Amino acid sequence: MAKLIDSVKTFVNTKILKKVHKRESIDSKYVLETRNLGISFGGLKAAQNVNLKIEKNEIYGLIGPNGAGKTTVFNLLTGVYQPTEGAFYLNGEDLTGLPQDKINHKGIARTFQNIRLFNNMTVVRNVMVGLTNQPEYHCSLFESIFRLPRHFKVEKEMRKRAKELLRIFDLEDERNNLACNLPYGKQRKLEIARALATNPKLLLLDEPAAGMNPNETEDLVNTIKKIRDEFDMTVLLIEHDMKFVSGLCDRITVLNFGTVLTEGDTKTALSNPDVIKAYIGG
Ligand SMILES: Nc1ncnc2c1ncn2[C@@H]1O[C@H](COP(=O)(O)OP(=O)(O)OP(=O)(O)O)[C@@H](O)[C@H]1O
Ligand SMILES: [Mg+2]
Repeated sequence: MAKLIDSVKTFVNTKILKKVHKRESIDSKYVLETRNLGISFGGLKAAQNVNLKIEKNEIYGLIGPNGAGKTTVFNLLTGVYQPTEGAFYLNGEDLTGLPQDKINHKGIARTFQNIRLFNNMTVVRNVMVGLTNQPEYHCSLFESIFRLPRHFKVEKEMRKRAKELLRIFDLEDERNNLACNLPYGKQRKLEIARALATNPKLLLLDEPAAGMNPNETEDLVNTIKKIRDEFDMTVLLIEHDMKFVSGLCDRITVLNFGTVLTEGDTKTALSNPDVIKAYIGG
């Protein structure tokens, strides 16, 4: 019975409240701004009053103990979940309540905590899938089925662009291998390359260094900095490896039990006694 009530509450929150949110752009100097963003699953407030303000070209960290609500925030920002409270804005445009594909078109791309690649496709094809969301690489069904010249032209251009992206990640030599045959660290990098292929304004990385060895982690720090510089990118990342976070992020927000525990420059926030307590479970 309690489970049924929870399901009804979740349904009301996600379906009914979604309808009442009226999208309105704001004047914002931030690439990403969230205002009291939150979601409840029945009685559980998985995220509440999350206020993020991320500037252009920042590499910003979202950290917190297991179950703090970090991935939930990413799911809200990418349309996997619809917020039951608050709103979020990309360069001032209200994207709250939009479906996943629209949000991606508007400029938010992500990677997942558990790698999600097309395992039985080649490395280069995985990146080409990402490219298909850009109008310049669109081909009509008619052009594709009848293999008209435009189909081959687009295919060639996509392959060229995918190879350029793979070069940045040192994956060019792997391009004809199946994604599932790549070692773990390279699969993580391929997922980032595919997200970048969608040409985002904001890149969300969910535990990009998870499972990597120290050399791979160090290499990833440099790659993310390179992405920021070469793609003029803004990055929001979730990570448990504090050395990684300190080496990359100027500012962080710390979540605990779905709410913001503290935020600010990385060094100060990490030395906050409440943060230390949250991590050691005191
Ligand atoms: N679809 C859902 N239905 C019910 N509860 C959910 C759902 N998604 C997330 N939660 C709950 O929300 C809370 C936050 O989960 P979330 O995955 O965001 O944590 P996290 O900070 O990413 O943790 P971790 O570091 O372990 O990845 C957890 O208690 C989780 O069980
Ligand atoms: Mg998570």
